[in-house]
Amino acid sequence: MTTTPVSPTPVSAPGQLPPSLIATLPGHYYTDPEIFRQEQERLFESMWFCAIRSADLAKPGAFRTVQVGRESVLITRSRTGELRAFLNVCRHRGARLCLEEAGEVRRNLQCPYHAWTYDLDGKLIAAPNLVKMPDVDRTEYGLVKVALREWLGYAWVCLADEPPSFEETVMGAAVERLGNVAAIEHYGTENLALGKRITYDVKANWKLIVENFMECYHCATIHPELTDVLPEFADGYAAQYYVGHGAEFGEEVKGFTVDGSEGFARLDGVGEDQDRRYYAITVKPQVFVNLVPDHVIVHRMFPMSHDRTVVECDWLYSPQVIESGADMAKSVELFHRVNVQDFDACERTQPAMSSRAYRSGGVLVPTEHHIGAFHHWLTEKLDTGSAAQM
Ligand code: FES
Ligand code: FE
Repeated sequence: MTTTPVSPTPVSAPGQLPPSLIATLPGHYYTDPEIFRQEQERLFESMWFCAIRSADLAKPGAFRTVQVGRESVLITRSRTGELRAFLNVCRHRGARLCLEEAGEVRRNLQCPYHAWTYDLDGKLIAAPNLVKMPDVDRTEYGLVKVALREWLGYAWVCLADEPPSFEETVMGAAVERLGNVAAIEHYGTENLALGKRITYDVKANWKLIVENFMECYHCATIHPELTDVLPEFADGYAAQYYVGHGAEFGEEVKGFTVDGSEGFARLDGVGEDQDRRYYAITVKPQVFVNLVPDHVIVHRMFPMSHDRTVVECDWLYSPQVIESGADMAKSVELFHRVNVQDFDACERTQPAMSSRAYRSGGVLVPTEHHIGAFHHWLTEKLDTGSAAQM
């Protein structure tokens, strides 16, 4: 375990602020629909986006639709068992193919407008009078494919014509945080079963949620249950500030539960060195992975507008724990409370982003300095230059 600090990148010109402070983004970054449109284009539609849990589509014909940037993406399980992703747009006159968020078809996907019909691999297989149009290539007029990769038991999609390296941009986030990819893969997340899923509709810009997750300056104020389990969080030092560092459970704490009572057996593959520790990983732009010895919590954010973000949070346990019918309430309750406490704080902050008091932003204290690196990354992606020039 190393304790190398992740070096923060200041986004403001030094000299204007006391040395212990650096500037945040100005308020309009959280309220301007045009900035959000740029984020949809440059981030959510260009990077790998964690769309669904693979096991949500248990059998061929099951589908889910998800909002990725400005697009609706349709993910199905094919006859041969693979996941496929398409733009949810009929190639005829553009009607949305699947209107439901989730469902199941027997064999084919049929457009409800003029009945063009596609198989689960996206190929056009039938349409009224299609036999009279032998020149129509059924693959060419099939659904538009979207790149898809599976990792940690989730399907990640990318709308870019040339997707960035999955290894560098997605798996690389775990390496940057934990030091190596094995440290996350040891948890065998892809083999875990869903214990609980809660969807939160948060009235806040997605960046407020990311920034909040990246710091622990707020932990002592709003997370009494979490700081009881992880006493070092009461000091305000986010675990993610140090490569490879996991916050250690308090001495009296038996498990990662709302009252510190016993959890479940350590997951196979989690070694002594990762026992009794909590690790948090941010995979930009919209995923948080939380690792504890007996379960894994995965947050996927779906930014819907500049001031609304849907967060789907999964609690994943070993299949034996689920099959045993064990009571998971205390285990789930801890991070559910953390989520509610965090999202309340984000919702309290969102309205103030349009206040004149925040026109040129706020400040980051030293324990939050690494959020400056997130702002720097964002402004570079948006090509809007440094926040200081805004
Ligand atoms: Fe889908 Fe016409 S728009 S069949
Ligand atoms: Fe928090």
